[in-house]
Amino acid sequence: MAKLQPVLPVLLLILLPASTAAGHPGGGRMLVFILVGQSNMSGRGGATNVSWDGMVPPECAPSPRIRRLSPALCWEEAREPLHAGIDVGNVLGVGPGMPFAHAVLAADGKTGAAAVGLVPCAQGATPIANWSRGTELYERMVTRARAAMAGSNGGGELAAMLWYQGEADAMSREDAEHYRGRMVALVHDVRSDLGRPDLLVIQVGIATAQHHGKFLGLVRDAQRAVTLPNVKYVDAMGLPIGSDHTHLTTEAQVQLGNMLAMSYLETL
Ligand SMILES: *[C@@H]1O[C@H](CO)[C@@H](O)[C@H](O)[C@H]1NC(C)=O
Ligand SMILES: *[C@@H]1O[C@H](CO)[C@@H](O)[C@H](O)[C@H]1NC(C)=O
Ligand SMILES: *[C@@H]1O[C@H](CO)[C@@H](O)[C@H](O)[C@H]1NC(C)=O
Repeated sequence: MAKLQPVLPVLLLILLPASTAAGHPGGGRMLVFILVGQSNMSGRGGATNVSWDGMVPPECAPSPRIRRLSPALCWEEAREPLHAGIDVGNVLGVGPGMPFAHAVLAADGKTGAAAVGLVPCAQGATPIANWSRGTELYERMVTRARAAMAGSNGGGELAAMLWYQGEADAMSREDAEHYRGRMVALVHDVRSDLGRPDLLVIQVGIATAQHHGKFLGLVRDAQRAVTLPNVKYVDAMGLPIGSDHTHLTTEAQVQLGNMLAMSYLETL
C-alpha cells in the first residue's frame, strides 16, 4: 500500500482536468448551441401556469453526452426542465433543446461530435427589444456563450444560435414592423461580440401570436426577410399547441427539436 501513495496525487492531477474542465466526461469534441427566445424555446411542454407534469419522453432523457451550462456558468449533465434557473418567474416544462441534442448526437457519424453542450438563455414573454445589445438579456447571453467556450477547455465548438422568439412582437404593428431590422442587428451584434462573423443562426418561424396579437403575419414575413448568409429558418406552423392554447406540447417540442437538428445537419 505504501508504495501506491505517491501515485495517487499524480493520478488526480491527470484525471481531474480531463473530467471537469473539458465540459463532458468523455473528452473529445463538443458542439455548443446557444438557445435563445421566449417561452417556447425555454419550454412549457407538460406545464400549466401552476405546475409541470414531470413527463420526460425518451427523446428528452438525460445523457452523459448532453451537457448544459448551469446558471452558475459551469457545465453539468443536462436534464428537463433545461431552463431551470434561467427563465425565472415561470413554470417550466419540456422545450426543444433536449430532443435537438439527441437528434444531433444520433448523427455523430456525420458530425464527429462526442457531446452536445446546450447554453440555455431564453426568457418567457420577452419582445425582441429586450434582446438588443446592451440589455440585460443580451449581455447575459453573451456572457454565458463566452463562459461556455472558456469552460470547454478547447474541446468546444460554437455551432449555432437557435432562436425562437417573436410572439410578443405580434401584438403591436410598430413592434412587428421593426422586427426585421431588430433581428438583423441582433445577428450582427452576436456574431461580432462572439468573434464569429459566420455563426449559424436558425430561426423558428412563429405559429401564433401572444395574447391573440393581430400582427402574426407581419412578424412571420419579417422573419423570412432576414436574408443574411448562414441564417436558416424552420417553421413551427402546424405543430400541436397545448390545452392552454399558448404553448407547444411536449410532443410538439420533440418534433421541433428534430426539425432544428435536421436544419443544422443540412449545413454540414
Ligand atoms: C391559470 O390558468 C387558468 C386557466 O387558464 C386561469 O383560470 C387561472 O387564473 C390561472 N392561474 C394563474 C395563477 O395565473
Ligand atoms: C423588457 O423591456 C422592458 C422595457 O424596457 C423592461 O421594463 C423589462 O424589464 C424588460 N424585461 C426583461 C426580462 O428584460
Ligand atoms: C408558443 O408557440 C405556440 C405555437 O407556435 C404559439 O401558439 C404561442 O403563441 C407561443 N407562445 C408564446 C407565449 O410565445
